[in-house]
Amino acid sequence: MNVLDAPFVKGFIRMADDGWRQGWHERNGGNLSYRIRPEEIAAVKDALTPGEWRPIGTDVPTLAGEYFLVTGSGKFFRNASIAPEDALCIIELDGKGENYRVCWGLVHGGRPTSELPSHLMNHAVKTAATGGVHRVIYHAHPANVIALTFVLPLTDEAFTRELWEMATECPVVFPDGVGVVPWMVPGGREIAVATSELMRQYDVAIWAHHGMFCSGPDFDTTFGLMHTVEKSAEILVKVLSMGGKRQTIRPDDFRALARDFGVTLPERFLAD
Ligand code: 13P
Ligand code: ZN
Repeated sequence: MNVLDAPFVKGFIRMADDGWRQGWHERNGGNLSYRIRPEEIAAVKDALTPGEWRPIGTDVPTLAGEYFLVTGSGKFFRNASIAPEDALCIIELDGKGENYRVCWGLVHGGRPTSELPSHLMNHAVKTAATGGVHRVIYHAHPANVIALTFVLPLTDEAFTRELWEMATECPVVFPDGVGVVPWMVPGGREIAVATSELMRQYDVAIWAHHGMFCSGPDFDTTFGLMHTVEKSAEILVKVLSMGGKRQTIRPDDFRALARDFGVTLPERFLAD
């Protein structure tokens, strides 16, 4: 099968396009990766032309031998649908999970996203935590979440509680809450370790003064999570701009919601 005809590639491109249209991907901002199923890679095997092995910059032994569809470093999300063979690539990991090689895409050269260490370490944590259900890691630069990192305390508790309060269904969509990474230099192993530590607990990690990472089992769920968190952040920015809350959803309201919707909300996010 032609790579561009594969349903997982079409789903990936649609998600990249949706993110671009939301305004979350100025220039080359953001990156996306998908852990390809064995049967999906088998269907496009004839179209793969493996290149040189290169170091990942970290090690992910539990993902050894796996294939990923990834955005290229410096590539623009707005071009993902127009020139996918230039903007995207399929990579294969070696038997130790220490090196990768490009097997398709990046036809004009380049390399996978500079955030590959964060993507792969998050994939490793999430794949283990979900018994293999997990597939997608998405990094975007949504303006309202970033704006809040200049105003709210940079704690998991403050962000989770404020974002939950801004839309009744938020605690149902992300009942585990969100994690916050303090400002760090992006693109390396250190921020990847900090982010993947949070991903053990959460499906969302906010990078202070930078953006957000979301994880999920498929494109719809992962995009929907990013969309839900960012919309909640937008409401909070509006509320703060109007002089702040005059009333809100109270801790006992959240407990009642959790009961009826069958979710468990950690009490540490429900302090009075
Ligand atoms: P890349 O172009 O290398 O993916 O970097 C974009 C980005 O958002 C870095 O955090
Ligand atoms: Zn970024």
